[in-house]
Order: sequence, then C-alpha cells, then structure tokens
Amino acid sequence: MALTKSSVALLAFHTLSVFAGDSCTIDSFNATLDGRVQPLKPLSLPCFSSYNGNSRAPDQSACNAIQRDYSDAFLRANSANGFMYNQIEECASDPRNQCLLDYTNPFNTQALESCHQGNVPSFSLEIKKAEDAMEAFKFSRCSGTPLSIKSSGHDLLGRSSGRGSLNLWTRNLRSLQYTPNFIPAGCDAGASSEYRAVTVGGGVNLDEAYRFAHDHNVTFVGGYAPTVSVGGGWAQAGGHSILSPVYGLGIDRALEYKVITPDGQYRIANECQHQDLFWALRGGGGGTFGLVLESTHKVEPRVSFVSAVVEFPLQSDSRNVLPFLDILVNNSVKWAHEGWGGHFRANSLINITPLLSLSEAKDSLAELAAYVRSQGGTVAIEEFADWLGFYERYVIPNAVEIGDTHFPNTRLVPKAVFETAEGRKNLMDFFARQVSQGGVVYVQEEGPLLYRDVKPTSATPAWREAVWAVTADGFWAWNSTLEERKQSVSQMNEMTELMEAITPGSGTYGAEGNPFTKNWQEAWWGRENYDQLLEIKAKYDPDRLLNCWKCVGWEESEAQDSCFASFE
Ligand SMILES: Cc1cc2nc3c(=O)[nH]c(=O)nc-3n(C[C@H](O)[C@H](O)[C@H](O)COP(=O)(O)OP(=O)(O)OC[C@H]3O[C@@H](n4cnc5c(N)ncnc54)[C@H](O)[C@@H]3O)c2cc1C
Ligand SMILES: *[C@@H]1O[C@H](CO)[C@@H](O)[C@H](O)[C@H]1NC(C)=O
Ligand SMILES: *[C@@H]1O[C@H](CO)[C@@H](O)[C@H](O)[C@H]1NC(C)=O
Ligand SMILES: *[C@@H]1O[C@H](CO)[C@@H](O)[C@H](O)[C@H]1NC(C)=O
Ligand SMILES: *[C@@H]1O[C@H](CO)[C@@H](O)[C@H](O)[C@H]1NC(C)=O
Repeated sequence: MALTKSSVALLAFHTLSVFAGDSCTIDSFNATLDGRVQPLKPLSLPCFSSYNGNSRAPDQSACNAIQRDYSDAFLRANSANGFMYNQIEECASDPRNQCLLDYTNPFNTQALESCHQGNVPSFSLEIKKAEDAMEAFKFSRCSGTPLSIKSSGHDLLGRSSGRGSLNLWTRNLRSLQYTPNFIPAGCDAGASSEYRAVTVGGGVNLDEAYRFAHDHNVTFVGGYAPTVSVGGGWAQAGGHSILSPVYGLGIDRALEYKVITPDGQYRIANECQHQDLFWALRGGGGGTFGLVLESTHKVEPRVSFVSAVVEFPLQSDSRNVLPFLDILVNNSVKWAHEGWGGHFRANSLINITPLLSLSEAKDSLAELAAYVRSQGGTVAIEEFADWLGFYERYVIPNAVEIGDTHFPNTRLVPKAVFETAEGRKNLMDFFARQVSQGGVVYVQEEGPLLYRDVKPTSATPAWREAVWAVTADGFWAWNSTLEERKQSVSQMNEMTELMEAITPGSGTYGAEGNPFTKNWQEAWWGRENYDQLLEIKAKYDPDRLLNCWKCVGWEESEAQDSCFASFE
C-alpha cells in the first residue's frame, strides 16, 4: 500500500484493540473508543412525554427549537439523529413506531402522544479518524451488530439509518483542500495526467464545496441541494448536476477515494491502485464498499453560463400545462446538444448552459418564451459569471422541502424516446396522466450527453444515453395508516411500471429510484455491472458487515426484518 502524507497522518495512532473472548459488548467497544459511542434517540424526542412506552418529562425549550426549525435541512444534516425525510426515521410498516411532529404544523400538539425509536439506529459513533471505522468494523464482526453510515441523512431509500444499528456518522470530517495539479496516489508522476482537483472529507456538503471552489476561482460541478454530502451518496451513486450535460456526473469526476473497507484495511482507490474498488465506488452506491474518509474530485476553471428562468400562472384546469410540456418534449434533444441542463415543472423551468451566448440562448428558447409570455408568464434569460452567484440566487431558494415523507421515483429517459413520434406521444400521455391525477410534474434534464471524457463507471450504462429523468414521486402523511401507506406505494409502483414501459432498456438513478422497484439490480446497475459489483463486494466485505436496502449484495429475504416489510 502506497502511503501518502495524509494517509500517514490518518494512521498515526494505528493501534487496534483486541476484543478478548466474551468482552465483545457495546460497553467494551465504548471503552475502547473513550466513551464516544452514544445512544441515539429520535430528533423530536424532547417534545414527547413518553418514549418507547415509558413516561418522561418533555424538555420544552429543546422542543421549541426543533418545532421552529423542523424543516431546516441544516439542523438535520448537522445532528447525529437528523434525517431529511420521515421514511428514514420512522418504521414505515408500523405507523405507531415513530417519533414525528406534524410537518404541516410542527406546533400541532395532537402529534405529541408517544415517541418510539422507529428506524432510528440504536447507537452513534462520530467518525474522527480511520481507527474509529476500523474498530467499528471489528466490533460489528464480533458482535453481529449491524452497521449504518450517515453523512447528511438525505438517503431517500432510508439507507443512512436502520433499526438496531450502530450508526457511523461522518458529517464532521470537514477538511477541504485545493490541488491545481493533482496526481492520484501511486500514479507515475511523469506518465499520468494531472488534474485540477478539490479533496473533501467524508462529511463535506455541496454548499461547503461550492464556496471553497469559488474562493479558489474554480467551479465544483455538483447537485441542486446545499446539504447533500459530496463524497457520501452523491459521488458514490451517480451525482447529477444541472451542469452534467456538459461536465459529466459526480462519478465521472471522482479521482480518488480514501476508504476503510470492512475487512479493516485503509485503502486508496483511484485509476492506479485498487482499480476494482475505484470502479465500484463510482456508481455502486454509498454504504456498501467501505467508509469513505476523503474523496478527490475534478473541478473546472471558473465556469460562466447563461440561465433561463421561466414561470407562468396555471389555468384553473391546468389546460395550459400540456402545450408547454409538448414544446419541451419536441426540443429536448436539440437543447441537450446546446448544453442546456436543469429542471422543469408543470409551469416553470430553470435551465443553464455554458455553451451559448446570451443572444444564442434567447434564439434557442424563442418558441418556449413566446408560449410562456402568451400565458401571462415571465422569462428571464441572464448571464452569470460564476456558479456561486447562480447558486445563491436560484438553488438555495428553490431547495426541495424536507421533513415530510417523500419518495422519489425517477426513471432515465434515453435520447431514442424523443426521436420517434411514438416515444414522444408516450411521454405526453405520461404527463397527461400525471396532470389529470393531480401529480407533481418534475423532470431533471441532466443526462451527461455531451461529456466525452468517460471512464468506465459501475452505475447503469443508461446514463450515457439519457437526456431526462422523469419522476412520479410518492408521499404519505405523517399520521397516515398502514393501509394509506400501502395504497401510496401501490400507486407509485404503477407509475414505475408505466415509466419503465415507455423507456425500454433504460435504467434508473438508484439514489432517486422507487425503493420498491422490483428489478432493482437491473434498473440501477444493469446485470453485467451488478454481477461484477457483487464480486468486488465479496472481496472487500466478505462478512457483509455493510448492508442496506437494495444495495449491492442485499437479499430479497432481508426485507421481512426491515421497516419496509409491508411494502415488498
Ligand atoms: C433534497 C435532495 C436533493 C437532492 N439533489 C440531488 C442532486 O441534485 N443530484 C443528485 O445526484 N442527487 C441528489 N439527491 C440525491 C442524493 O444524492 C442522495 O440522496 C445521496 O444518497 C445523498 O448522499 P448523502 O451522503 O448526502 O446522504 P446520506 O443519507 O448520509 O448517505 C447516503 C448513502 O451514502 C452512504 N454514505 C454516506 N456517507 C458515506 C461515507 N462517508 N462513506 C460511505 N458511505 C457513505 C450512506 O450509508 C447511504 O447509503 C438529492 C436528495 C435530496 C433529498
Ligand atoms: C459510552 O460511555 C459514555 C461515557 O461513559 C457514556 O456517556 C455513554 O452513554 C456510553 N455509551 C453507551 C452506548 O452506553
Ligand atoms: C479566474 O478564472 C478565470 C477563468 O479561468 C480567469 O479568467 C480569471 O482571470 C481568474 N481570476 C482570478 C482573480 O484569478
Ligand atoms: C411537437 O411535435 C409533434 C409531432 O411529433 C407535433 O404534432 C406537435 O405539434 C409539436 N408540438 C409543438 C408545440 O410544436
Ligand atoms: C392527520 O393530521 C392532519 C394534520 O396534519 C389532520 O388534519 C388529520 O385529521 C390527521 N388524521 C388523522 C387520521 O388523525
């Protein structure tokens, strides 16, 4: 193993404990870690007078703070017991087994009957150094305690928590480093490429990466959310950006991961060493191949671009929505080739392109702009000198609401679908059905169509053909019954099947897929990638210490012991 300077620092106090015989208990583990293993309790517990069936005294001032900031993503991302959505922290199959406030009104006292642990892990260990993860893997192996890893708690499939688990919390690994001429460790300096790169600790979020890159006059190509963690689920599962059409996905831009694999080893994975692990980490998904302490990502010289922000008032019967969507369907491939990326909804769109000038952008969108204006809407086409200005103006205020139960349900739409009349009609029928059912129209236009520097990654190859990801989200109320939850899942499954039918042979971004997708291995990776991922999993995690919902190596039979048991 080639040690770099920083890996030597991480290993400076590398003396692992030996758990003797029957001392493999949480107490002995806690003692080894100087008492840093903490019991984990639900975020909203201070508001309740009963916990797991025992009465307790509420803490009114702590409760008020949680009520006030209940939908604040930063509060949750910065708390060991903070998860963005209810499905991550409640036990979805058992509606009484949860500890939630009413997100529509966190001051609603009707919610405050009883607090149960739900899907919240039993214990939390804040990861400060490599040895913490090594000890945790060792403890899990000898005690059988399941593990989970959480950076920000955004995982929409609930994979950063887990009932009964020891949670390894990486959020406070917050180092940031800029290297204008990065050479992956172990690569031959003369022979290999140098990269302009930013190296981040395993807890650094996009907001921090954007500001840091800005301070160094470079652009970090990242997602549409301040608190999503860079080197956690984002850059391990796929990592789309509204700049992806031109600059590729997070997995395309990752250069190196420093990771503790479950076999207890500190490893550096990049194009020159542990290439199999490097490939697996670029698309195989978080929480599967090891705990990432640090990751390095290619950045661009400062990117300037043109943005288009359009919105129009809905007619009462949404009559003016389908003509808008028709224009988008007909023009999407042309726009993708002009570098446009972004999102649109039934009556709004925010897109950017680094490839067109202001006047070219106006020409490109003329038909769309004319329609929007004819509906009494607004069109703003502007230039931005850098990403941070756009991010502060449009991304932060448009952050997706959190604190509710919200399942993504996305599907990649390949270029070919737009190229036949039948394909376009299928898409319009899909939108028509969504609109008539009162569903949310939300499309990500982020396929990495123009990105040419593609190295093999383990995510579904469907990304390389994709122009859009369409979505058909599922929701349920904080106080819904099991029947209502099942109903919502079955509607979502119906929409998944419909999306699959109109995008034959395509795939799904696993991190934003319907958790109840049947052929998930095929959808998220493709069979060939999946089989290879399984082999790599067996090599680095032979005892399957890391296991999560529909992650590589997960078995269907494991559903029955999970909080999603009722929905499979
Ligand atoms: C509001 C919102 C907006 C989003 N926007 C985008 C977007 O614009 N682009 C995009 O591509 N995706 C987006 N996503 C999806 C997001 O990328 C995934 O949910 C991703 O899994 C989040 O990763 P995380 O590490 O922040 O979350 P977590 O919930 O902390 O972790 C996610 C997964 O990674 C694992 N993990 C986390 N940290 C580590 C680590 N250090 N080492 C090993 N495993 C780890 C966890 O175990 C879990 O399996 C969005 C999600 C939400 C909720
Ligand atoms: C670990 O030890 C510390 C310090 O004694 C204690 O506060 C904490 O509750 C212990 N953790 C567990 C899980 O018992
Ligand atoms: C920032 O980067 C841009 C694009 O590479 C360059 O034109 C500009 O001179 C740089 N500014 C500074 C202050 O270095
Ligand atoms: C989109 O293309 C179809 C043909 O496939 C055509 O019938 C329709 O009028 C076009 N829509 C718009 C708004 O141009
Ligand atoms: C659920 O909570 C909402 C308020 O968020 C309330 O209007 C509704 O009556 C509650 N439903 C049940 C079944 O208690």
